[in-house]
Amino acid sequence: MSKLSFDRILQSQGYGTRKYCRSLIEDGEVTINGVVHDNYKELIETDGLVFNLFDEDVVYREHVYIALFKPQNYECSRKPSHHPGVLTLLPEELTWRDVQPVGRLDHDTTGMLLMSDDGAFIHAQSSPKRHVPKIYQATTAEPVTDELIAQLLAGVQLHDEPAPLAAQTCIKRGEHQLEIVLEQGKYHQVKRMLAAAGNHCSALHRSAIGGLELASLEIEEGDWCYLTAEQLALLAPA
Ligand code: URA
Repeated sequence: MSKLSFDRILQSQGYGTRKYCRSLIEDGEVTINGVVHDNYKELIETDGLVFNLFDEDVVYREHVYIALFKPQNYECSRKPSHHPGVLTLLPEELTWRDVQPVGRLDHDTTGMLLMSDDGAFIHAQSSPKRHVPKIYQATTAEPVTDELIAQLLAGVQLHDEPAPLAAQTCIKRGEHQLEIVLEQGKYHQVKRMLAAAGNHCSALHRSAIGGLELASLEIEEGDWCYLTAEQLALLAPA
């Protein structure tokens, strides 16, 4: 159980500056169970809190954990240069909360991108020590051969890497389709590994992270959803 003043609650949920949140409350714009609460100093229990603002019910969340179905031609960097940033796909409240991507996908890679405003979660998920498997579906320019799979499983040497990097799993899914599972998240890793093994990645999609499959979330490309505790537990072993 934890109580916070109403203005802090509104601000923490991404509704703007403290001053603006106070004015929303004082103007009677925010209701709880249909009752206007216009004193911004009122201490309100956050556990299970749902308030209504601009005709929308908002569930209070201490932190947000999001999966985005990233489309092509969006950049994950904080300062995108050639394409819009992935944050532009989220509602304003979430960007006010300083939601950030967990790791990066290339601008032309599609698929599951985790995002959160919980620094500890971002750090833990990105940590190489955690060995979170990332499942990619790669389209290859040259046919997928047994030799290619053997090379990727044995490990390929990339420039600037001290030791060869190996795929955890590699499955041929079609003449030019390869499912590749990586535990690391090095820069352009799938593309560079395929190039080092004599092929070329012409399209890349991340279909799952740990045991959480993008398809199970039933979101369209460009859409996002909050992750439940059960879905978060599927991401990786603790
Ligand atoms: N490997 C790549 O080459 N690109 C990505 O976006 C992700 C993994």
